[in-house]
Amino acid sequence: MTGKHPEIEAQHRQLIELFQQHRLTLFAGELGKALQQLQNLRQVQAEHIALEETELLPQLGAEARWPAKTYLAEHRKLEVMLAGLMRELQGLPGQTRDAALILSLLEREMPFKHVLEHHFEREEKALLHEC
Ligand SMILES: [Fe+2]
Ligand SMILES: [Fe+2]
Repeated sequence: MTGKHPEIEAQHRQLIELFQQHRLTLFAGELGKALQQLQNLRQVQAEHIALEETELLPQLGAEARWPAKTYLAEHRKLEVMLAGLMRELQGLPGQTRDAALILSLLEREMPFKHVLEHHFEREEKALLHEC
């Protein structure tokens, strides 16, 4: 962690940790609590994205490795994916012992996890050094 924005990197670690906690809750079948954790994650993610879009992306120069629109598109994608995961949980009971359901929910969330990790990697490789 040698970027110029340790607070941004700390938020990345916080978001990864919040999602990990959510997955553990899901694994235990606590679907209601898992949904609340996603609502909290959405709030933290929204603040993080707003910070990057107001403080960092406007400073990105033409020589940047990836243009602002790349980061913006990924932010919108993360928001849409997270809303989809929340919608999925909203129609389910607060608790379940249905192992097949739990497994399918955990699998359903993997693409979000991958996009989130890939996005943070991109920012830590480029954006946080360039702004
Ligand atoms: Fe971002
Ligand atoms: Fe970020």
